[in-house]
Amino acid sequence: MLEKNVKLENKTILVTGAAGFIGANLILSLLKNVEHVEIIGIDNMNAYYDVALKEFRLNQIRELASGVTGTFTFIRESIAEQKKVKEIFETHRPQIVVNLAAQAGVRYSIENPDAYIESNMIGFYNLLEACRHSYDGGAGGVEHLVYASSSSVYGSNKKIPYATEDKVDNPVSLYAATKKSNELMAHVYAKLYGIPSTGLRFFTVYGPAGRPDMAYFGFTDKLVKNETIKIFNYGNCKRDFTYIDDIVTGVQSVMQCAPLPNEEGVKYKIYNIGNNQPENLLDFVEILQEELKRAAILPQEYDFEAHKELVGMQPGDVEVTYADVSELERDFGFKPSTDLRDGLRNFARWYKEFYL
Ligand SMILES: NC(=O)c1ccc[n+]([C@@H]2O[C@H](COP(=O)([O-])OP(=O)(O)OC[C@H]3O[C@@H](n4cnc5c(N)ncnc54)[C@H](O)[C@@H]3O)[C@@H](O)[C@H]2O)c1
Repeated sequence: MLEKNVKLENKTILVTGAAGFIGANLILSLLKNVEHVEIIGIDNMNAYYDVALKEFRLNQIRELASGVTGTFTFIRESIAEQKKVKEIFETHRPQIVVNLAAQAGVRYSIENPDAYIESNMIGFYNLLEACRHSYDGGAGGVEHLVYASSSSVYGSNKKIPYATEDKVDNPVSLYAATKKSNELMAHVYAKLYGIPSTGLRFFTVYGPAGRPDMAYFGFTDKLVKNETIKIFNYGNCKRDFTYIDDIVTGVQSVMQCAPLPNEEGVKYKIYNIGNNQPENLLDFVEILQEELKRAAILPQEYDFEAHKELVGMQPGDVEVTYADVSELERDFGFKPSTDLRDGLRNFARWYKEFYL
């Protein structure tokens, strides 16, 4: 196990993508569990998906923040605005930076590639530059930069489970290419300017108030409307579904351990965070529909078979995602373990309350 070398108590933590699925859940957990933490949340509240969901998450944070020792300041801004990012760093002087803002989604990168370059490339570059200048004039500066990468960097890797030492030079979507680029850029800034950074390759994260563009959410929307769901690659897909609480536990553990210099003397690390137990897509939808019935979102007599259509593969998608999480386990004594049925049950309960 790694020794903790970054204290979170009494620190200023900048979280980008604060109104996003993972960002908001991380902030809730930090406010609940860390004394006197000052959280600065940035999000541009873009309309890639329903902004009401982002508002809902922000309200959850504000409600919690009013009863804890920590504070939450929200800044509606894009990380692609270099001047603004610089100003935010100069005003708030964050000691820990967690970058979760990004244009997410594989399929949308075919429709709107610009959004990926703007948020994932320019935005990330602006954060790196701001981290670099946080040490100017002998200031304490950023102790640890943690940022989201993605399992999509593995592209159509044949070897499973996916390990961080696998060669990942063949991305199959622009989204994946931006995430891999982030890892490369972070390496440069760790090497040249000594900014300790950890990249986290997340594997299909799901849970209450999750992202509506993801399959489990989209399937639910369609089934509720009595529409047919399309199951890609004729169901021959496996996904390592990771419950949001496991991701938050993982990110929070990682935040407290800035990487020590590696063999080349660079404070740089990448981890997979996934469930390490890929589920077959057809089994997954079966469990989902059972849990939707249990939550009374779908009637007991709902004919699920009649609402399911098996179709071919989508461009940019991959057949299997399967995380090797042995490094995470070795360094933090933790690996995601929430059972898919339990996680989908929580999602179904939330969905009923929020929409129906
Ligand atoms: N959810 C997953 O399954 C998953 C899997 C792999 C990687 N990731 C990565 O994890 C991170 C968080 O994902 P998420 O699921 O919470 O996504 P999300 O879309 O819910 O959250 C991202 C947030 O960032 C904001 N944002 C986008 N561009 C911005 C910009 N230029 N400036 C400021 N804010 C901006 C969005 O408004 C959104 O609220 C992303 O980097 C994503 O690529 C997520």
